[in-house]
Amino acid sequence: MAKLYSFLSDGLVRRFEGRSPREIVGLTFKTIRHAARRVGPAAARERRADQAFDRQWGTDTSGTVNLSALNVARDRALLGFGYQASNGVALQQALGLAGVNPADFTFIDYGSGKGRVVMIATALGFARAIGVEFAPELHRVALANADRFLAAGGAAQRCDMVLGDAGSYVPPPGPLFAYIYNSFGPQILREVLHRLEQRAAAGETVIVVYVNPKHREAFEDNGRWRIEAEEGDWVMYRPVTA
Ligand SMILES: C[S@@+](CC[C@H](N)C(=O)[O-])C[C@H]1O[C@@H](n2cnc3c(N)ncnc32)[C@H](O)[C@@H]1O
Repeated sequence: MAKLYSFLSDGLVRRFEGRSPREIVGLTFKTIRHAARRVGPAAARERRADQAFDRQWGTDTSGTVNLSALNVARDRALLGFGYQASNGVALQQALGLAGVNPADFTFIDYGSGKGRVVMIATALGFARAIGVEFAPELHRVALANADRFLAAGGAAQRCDMVLGDAGSYVPPPGPLFAYIYNSFGPQILREVLHRLEQRAAAGETVIVVYVNPKHREAFEDNGRWRIEAEEGDWVMYRPVTA
């Protein structure tokens, strides 16, 4: 009992450490809401849908992981959000509307977690698919997933999983199709966008799909991005070129 108490209180301390009282209240409500959503038939249906990809390919991409449970630099963790996988629908819809050939693009998932959408991108025919994830525990799972997906015939080539911070990641040359599933707040988002803006200014084609777009201001406040398409829970942006 004492051990359980200490385990729970350590977790809480890590989750709340460095947060303002206002953030702690917000996080507490979020945790209660999250716990309540995990019961009932709708939650069971959602879980089954989340696990469908893994059932098909023998991978491990489902579930959620809080950043406080992961070995990431505290100052960066405070600027980011935890793990939950995309189902690939937004990517397929956006790719259809972008009217480009994925074989001409490198796909980059900024904050790729266990790598589900990176594997989906490889299967959709991108020339190369890269996932950038800063949590070593999730990165390790993503590497194993990439191997399993390839071995199971999910794609003709292996995707690349990179361990690192999205804000400092330097994308490879060539046309870029970037994907962000609400991985972080505006500060890191702006760091990522700054590099992509530099690429666009140098004449490179850049497309960004932003899913669960909670911080659109990072795109929309500086006049450097225009909305190419928008549907359901995602927005697709292209840089404004002079
Ligand atoms: C909502 S999940 C999205 C997972 C994946 N993109 C997908 O769509 O399946 C957000 C992920 O971003 C990662 N993340 C948050 N901040 C990050 C940062 N600064 N650099 C790299 N990864 C980060 C988290 O660890 C988590 O795995």
